[in-house]
Order: sequence, then C-alpha cells, then structure tokens
Amino acid sequence: MALRSAIINVMAMAADKAATRLVRDFGEVEHLQVSRKGPADFVSSADKKAESILRQALSKARPEYGLLMEESGETVGSDPRHRWIVDPLDGTTNFLHGIPHFCISIALERDGEIVAGVVFDPLKDELFWAERGLGAYVNDRRLRVSGRSRLPDALFATGIPFLGIQDGPGHKKFLGQLGRVMAQCSGVRRYGSAALDLAYVAAGRYDGYWENGLNAWDVAAGILLVRESGGQVSDIAGRRYQLNSPDICAGNEALHTPLRNLIREPVA
Ligand code: IPD
Ligand code: CA
Ligand code: CA
Repeated sequence: MALRSAIINVMAMAADKAATRLVRDFGEVEHLQVSRKGPADFVSSADKKAESILRQALSKARPEYGLLMEESGETVGSDPRHRWIVDPLDGTTNFLHGIPHFCISIALERDGEIVAGVVFDPLKDELFWAERGLGAYVNDRRLRVSGRSRLPDALFATGIPFLGIQDGPGHKKFLGQLGRVMAQCSGVRRYGSAALDLAYVAAGRYDGYWENGLNAWDVAAGILLVRESGGQVSDIAGRRYQLNSPDICAGNEALHTPLRNLIREPVA
C-alpha cells in the first residue's frame, strides 16, 4: 500500500475538488459543439474556475507558499522557498472538442527543485503522483518506465506545433524531428496533454516523449514522475531539464539518448 504524505494529500484533494467541476463542465461541452458561438468561451471560463478552486484549496492548506498558475500568473508568497506550479486544465483543446483526455497538474517547487507532483486524469480516475526520492505511483500502483531498449520496438509521444505557435522555424524544425523519429520506431502518438504524456512515460506506456516550446506548468509535475520511475529528462542538448528549457526529451534509460539523437538538429 503506497502511503501518501500530507503534502501529496493536500495536492490530491485540491485536484479532486477542481476535477469535480471540470468533469461537470466537460459534460456541457459535448452539446456546445454545435452551438453558433461554439464552446470556446465556456471552456476558458471552466479553465479559470478550476484554477480559482485550486488557488483557494492550495492557499488554504499552505497560505505562505507562492503560486505560478497558467491563467493568473505568479503570486509571490511570504515563504520564498516554496511555490506551487499549476496547470488547472492540461489538454484544453481536447476538452474544447469533447475529447476525453485532459488532466490537472500540480507541482511543488522547493528551492528551485520540484519535490512533489500530482497529475490527475479525472475521466480515467488515474492519479499520478510522486515525491522526490520516494518513487512515483498511479493511484496505489508503483510506476516504472518501460524496459524496451530497441528503437524499432519503441512507441514515442510528442506535441505538434499548430496555427500561430512557432510558425515557420518551429514547424520546419518539428517536421524534421518527426521525419527522423517515425522512420526508426514503431509509432508516434500525439494525445494533446503534455502532463499526461510525461505521466505515460513514467508508467511505461510510452518509451519516450519530446516537445518544443512548453511552459513550466505543463511539465513541472510530469518531470518528477519520470525521474521517480527511473526515467531520464533533459533538454534536447542533453542538459538537465530546467523549467525554462525551450524543449524537453524524456525516456526510459535505454531509449532517452537514442531519441534525443534523432530529434537534435543533424550536424551539417
Ligand atoms: C497544451 C498541452 C499540449 C501541448 C501544448 C500545451 P494546455 O497545454 O499540454 O499537449 O502540446 O503545447 O500548451 O494549453 O492544454 O494547457
Ligand atoms: Ca498545459
Ligand atoms: Ca492549461
């Protein structure tokens, strides 16, 4: 039985509270697809409502901690060592289109390092959680990255740039990466939630994942899940991943470097 610490319980309870509202709103989105205005405004208010629920729950539990939240930005706390890093709804475009794959991501940063993380997928009832040095879990099951070691057996995940995001160089760079990876592996998936992509690497469902241009709140909890399940996380150059790194590469021990070698710009 995996014993959750007080801080993981604080994070899990906050995520559960926000998820109750998100799941209810998700039920509404289905029939908004055909409405003239579409669901965009409704979803952004669902996003903001989830964030305010999380802010209220986390601030009540640890009033002195700072917060970095996707929708409302940075709130400096009286305790300079601790900061919550929160994405209230990761997988917004999926949510908007009624696709049942999204999550809430909450990380706790202490002295600049992530020490606890929770990624909660309410529709599949999967709570991914980890504390630094204490392992990673999904619900009560211990997580371990996959044991695959050959590229032809590997299944990777990524995020595809889209309209307005990294136009031009970002698109060209990504298409080069995708071309090199897809020619060497058994498949590439794009499921639309970076936090769940990292959680799935930690769970051994994906053998690796890469993406360019993510924000701290997308990955802060997920990188701890991967590290605590025996995986590796770096930037594309192979440096230890920092929350402001422009790109990310995660994988199991055997395939992290082969994946990184495929997504790096080929030496002329
Ligand atoms: C997005 C998702 C997506 C990734 C985008 C992120 P959001 O987060 O994580 O998978 O490719 O870059 O912005 O907007 O749904 O919170
Ligand atoms: Ca996100
Ligand atoms: Ca988000």
